[in-house]
Amino acid sequence: MCGIVGYIGHREAYPIVIKGLKRLEYRGYDSAGVMLYDNAEAVIKVCKTKGKVLDLEAKAKENFATNGTIGIGHTRWATHGVPNDVNSHPHLSNSGELAIIHNGIIENYAPLKEELIKRGYTFKSDTDTEVLVNLIEEVQKKENIKLGKAVQIALNQVVGAYAIAVFDKKNPNEIVAARLGSPLAIGVGEGEYFIASDASPFIEYTSNAIYLEDGEMANIRLHKPLKVRKIKDDSLVDPYIQELQMNLEQIEKGGYDHFMLKEIYEQPSVIKDTYRGRLNANLGIVQMAGVEDNIEKFLNAKRILIVACGTSWHAGLVAEYIFEEFTRIPVEVEYASEFRYRNPIINKDDVVIAISQSGETADTMAAIKLAKENGAFVFGVCNVVGSSISRESHAGAYTHAGPEIGVASTKAFTTQITVLTMIALRLGKAKGTLSNTDFHTYLQELEIIPEKVKEALETNDRAKEIAAAFKDAPNCLYLGRGYNFPVALEGALKLKEISYIHAEGYPAAEMKHGPIALIDEHMPVIVIAPKQGHYDKIVSNIQEIKSRSGKIIAVVTKGDTQVRELADYVIEIPETSDALSPLITTIPLQLLSYHIAVMRGCNVDQPRNLAKSVTVE
Ligand code: F6R
Repeated sequence: MCGIVGYIGHREAYPIVIKGLKRLEYRGYDSAGVMLYDNAEAVIKVCKTKGKVLDLEAKAKENFATNGTIGIGHTRWATHGVPNDVNSHPHLSNSGELAIIHNGIIENYAPLKEELIKRGYTFKSDTDTEVLVNLIEEVQKKENIKLGKAVQIALNQVVGAYAIAVFDKKNPNEIVAARLGSPLAIGVGEGEYFIASDASPFIEYTSNAIYLEDGEMANIRLHKPLKVRKIKDDSLVDPYIQELQMNLEQIEKGGYDHFMLKEIYEQPSVIKDTYRGRLNANLGIVQMAGVEDNIEKFLNAKRILIVACGTSWHAGLVAEYIFEEFTRIPVEVEYASEFRYRNPIINKDDVVIAISQSGETADTMAAIKLAKENGAFVFGVCNVVGSSISRESHAGAYTHAGPEIGVASTKAFTTQITVLTMIALRLGKAKGTLSNTDFHTYLQELEIIPEKVKEALETNDRAKEIAAAFKDAPNCLYLGRGYNFPVALEGALKLKEISYIHAEGYPAAEMKHGPIALIDEHMPVIVIAPKQGHYDKIVSNIQEIKSRSGKIIAVVTKGDTQVRELADYVIEIPETSDALSPLITTIPLQLLSYHIAVMRGCNVDQPRNLAKSVTVE
C-alpha cells in the first residue's frame, strides 16, 4: 500500500526521495508525488501525478526545480478518491504552509471535514488526507502552537490508521512523523534523517533505524536528537536504534529480469537460511527459541487456530495437514478478515498462529489482537523483522526469506511452510504422536529439501514452453489433493494475480460436484499429481478430465509413466515425502505463472490493483 519517504539533512533531497519511492514501488500504488522545500527561496514546491514514479520524474523534469535538502514523497494506493493528480499526495493545507504524506485511512474524515468546511476550509481533493492536514492547521492556528503539538492534538481526534510525515514551512528544520497501524521507520544518519515505510529507501545511507511503535510520534529536527513520544499522553519514549541486517544486494534484481524470478530462484538458499541453526538431522534436533520458551503452551493446546490472508493463508492450510498428521492437535485455518468480524470462539488454551510475510496485514493484526483479548497465546510467523505482527505476538519465529519485493509471494510461502513444518515436527516428537523413525526421516528430508527445490527449478524451460501454449487461455483450473490441495489454490492465485487470467484451485475430487461442467477442449487443467498420497485417486480424476477433452498439464514425480500417458504436458519434479511435497510442487507453478505473465506483457512485480503490504482492512 502507500509508500512514504522523507529526507531532512545536508544532501539534495529530490534524488533520495525519488530513489526511495522506487524502492517502495513493490508495495503497490497508482499515483506518486513529492514535496521539496527550497531553502534558498523559502518556498514549498509540490509535483504529483497519476501513474508511476517514472511519470513523476518526467513531470518534474518539465517545470519543477528539484533543489532543496528537505523533502517528502509518496506513492498512493487509492482508498478515498480515484487515482488522479489531485488526489495524489503530498497534500497542502489551505494556507499552503503545511504538507503531509499519509499511508492509511482516516475513518472519521467525513464529520471532521464537515466541521472544517463550517470553519471556512475548502478542499481540492476527495481524500481523507487533505482533511487531516487541514485539521492540523486548524489546531495549530487555534492554539497558536508548533507543528508537533498540533499534530498530536489532531491525531487524538482521529479514528483510523496512519503513518504520516508532516512539514511546516514556518519551521523548515523539522519533519513530524507518527504512526498507528501503518509502518514507519526512521533512518538515523550523520546530521541527517530519513523517513520511510520500510528501511529499503535508506539502507545505502545508514544501517541505523528506529521503528516507531503504534501510537508514537517523532519530532525529527536537524542537528537535534530525535524526540519520540506517545501520541496519547505526551510521555517521552527512549527510541531503540536497531542495526539493520538488510543489505543493498537483497533489494536489487541481481541480474534477473524481475524480482519475482529472483525470489523464485532464491528459494533453495532461503529455505536453508530458515532452518539454519534450528534443525540438525544428524543430531536429531529441531528447535526454535520462540517454541522452546513456550513449549508447554503448545503441548497443552486443545486447538491450534491459524489466521492469515492470501498466500500466507495457503501456507496455513498446508500447515493444517502437517500439524494434524504430526501432532494430532486439531487445527482450524481462518481468513483473518472473517475471523475478526465473526465473533469466533477463542479459548484460553488455544494457540493462535498468525502467518504474515509483511507482518503488517491489517486484518491479521486485528485477528491477533482479538485472540489476545480472549486470552489465547499468539505465535507469529513473519518475515519482516520488527514488523507490527511480530511485535504484537506473544512469541514467534521468523522466516528468513530476506526482503520479498515482488508483489506475488513466492519465497515467503515456502519459508513459511518450512517454519510451520519444523514446529509440527518439534511438537510431534514431544507429544509422541510422530514415531521416532518418522521424526528422523522428516528431519533428514527437510534438510535436503533445498537441493530438491534447486532440481525443481530446472523445470523452468519446460514451464516456459507450456506457458507459450497456454498464455492466451481465458480460464484455468488447478487441482490437487491432500497436502497439495492448498498448492492448487496457491497456483491459481499466482496465475490470476500476475497474469489476470481467471483461475480456480479445487480439491481434485470436488470436480464432480460442479466445476467439471467447465471442462471442454479449451480448458487447461493443471493437476498436481506426485507419486505419493492419493496418487491413484488423482489418476482417476485426470481420467475424468481427459474423457471430457480438457487439456491436462500434470506436475508429476520424476519417472512417472501412468500420468504421462494421460496428460498433454508433464512437468517432472524430484520425489519427496507427501508432507513436504508442497515445497517442491509449488515451484513449477510459480514458474508457469511467471512466464505466462511475462508473455502477456504484464507488470510481473507490480500487478495492477495489488499492494504488497495490505495495511488497510
Ligand atoms: C499473494 C500475496 C498476498 C499476501 C497477502 C498476505 O501473492 O502476496 O495474497 O499473501 O496479502 O500478506 P502477508 O503475508 O504480508 O500478511
